Amino acid sequence: MKKIIKNGTIVTATETYQADILIENGVISLLGQNLTEQGAEVVDANGCYVFPGGIDPHTHLEMPFGGTVTKDDFETGTIAAAFGGTTTIIDFCLSTKGEPLKNAIDVWHKKSKGKAVIDYGFHLMIGEVNESVLNELPLVINEEGITSFKVFMAYKNVLQADDDTLFQTLLAAKELGALVMVHAENGDVIDYLVKKALREGNTDPIYHALTRPPEIEGEATARAATLTGLANSQLYVVHVSCADAARKIAEARANGVEVWGETCPQYLVLDISYLEKPNFEGAKYVWSPPLREKWNQEELWKALKTGQLQTVGSDQCSFDFKGQKELGRGDFSKIPNGGPIIEDRFSILFSEGVKKGRISLNQFVDITSTRIAKLFGLYPRKGTIAVGVDADLVIFDPNVERTISAKTHHMAVDYSAFEGMEVTGEPVTVLSRGEFVIRDKQFVGTVGAGQFVKRANYGHSLEPKESKSVTL
Ligand code: URP
Ligand code: ZN
Ligand code: ZN
Ligand code: ZN
Repeated sequence: MKKIIKNGTIVTATETYQADILIENGVISLLGQNLTEQGAEVVDANGCYVFPGGIDPHTHLEMPFGGTVTKDDFETGTIAAAFGGTTTIIDFCLSTKGEPLKNAIDVWHKKSKGKAVIDYGFHLMIGEVNESVLNELPLVINEEGITSFKVFMAYKNVLQADDDTLFQTLLAAKELGALVMVHAENGDVIDYLVKKALREGNTDPIYHALTRPPEIEGEATARAATLTGLANSQLYVVHVSCADAARKIAEARANGVEVWGETCPQYLVLDISYLEKPNFEGAKYVWSPPLREKWNQEELWKALKTGQLQTVGSDQCSFDFKGQKELGRGDFSKIPNGGPIIEDRFSILFSEGVKKGRISLNQFVDITSTRIAKLFGLYPRKGTIAVGVDADLVIFDPNVERTISAKTHHMAVDYSAFEGMEVTGEPVTVLSRGEFVIRDKQFVGTVGAGQFVKRANYGHSLEPKESKSVTL
């Protein structure tokens, strides 16, 4: 059905203006003043911003990790994402050494098919590079539409890859047109520090952070950037947590190396003291890299403002406190790493960023959507508001005040990392390819309506699907 979104303020990465939006066949067919169209349903956005749907480039849904499986799957996770203003996610597909990459991709298609309520793509983890991997990579990119690879520099003996693997992945990505993503922490040194802490009887959650100091993230970030320069390739550093790593990215960029950096809401608003909460509650705040000393937060905000970091992802990786986080009672190294955030990314960045004057409204759109679309081969089909592109839209009330709580969130976990945090602004209505997913803060979407998106090669655009009736 045709729709017209009326009276809203459209915000893109570069512009803010008043206009109506006509939606036909799932795409934006016209932007203009006082639009009317016979048979179109009118959606009033008076007093609201209309943003391009958020794109979350960093999620782990139904992922086996830390001796358990993340609680939110492609159904609960994408519903929560939509409530939070996100209309596309890119999830990490984990591969296993010695097995065809195709198997891993099939597993991820199986767990997502028929479940997602918004569109999604995959990144693919590369754990080793050999002849069969090199043979498969062109197919992964050109047939599967998976144009970004993830290399873990940490999680020794589990996911960690060596520098040879990282370097060869960078070379292949350059040749084939893909973006290499790294989890940048020195896994070997962490492994030593963790064993030492446990030997000395230091088992509480805080030791998770103390055995992963910022230097270890800074070192790995600089190493990955150096290898990227040597390979003349392109790198995206996920979940930058501290000033040290942000500075390493800025230095590499100043030297002409193509390095992009992502941070996450948790590093912008939470700090290391949370890991010291009594009764093992600190386990709720165990991420890798860990939460840092508070002064790092303003440095990360500054890096976003100045463009030294370019994106915010959620790193959604949710575990219940009961039964999952509790696996690490008496041994911090067994606490599953990660937290529930997919629903809160957009609102926290708006409230703490835009409302508090740390970033502009247009930067907010760039950081949560447009830049991500450009880096990951989704632009311009997704990531902006223009004639011909997918009608993935968020009608956002910038003035409503609310409190984040596990009692009201839609993620499938028993706690919120941001419990009690007051935020200003909330998505009211969310559309995916022109269909309501959230309407007046109620879920009205269809489980399984989300489509897998084959993404364009790095540096290339994803052409919008043809819009049938553009009436100008
Ligand atoms: O603690 C984290 N970040 N968990 C998710 C997995 C990862 O390293 O991104
Ligand atoms: Zn090319
Ligand atoms: Zn990671
Ligand atoms: Zn992650």
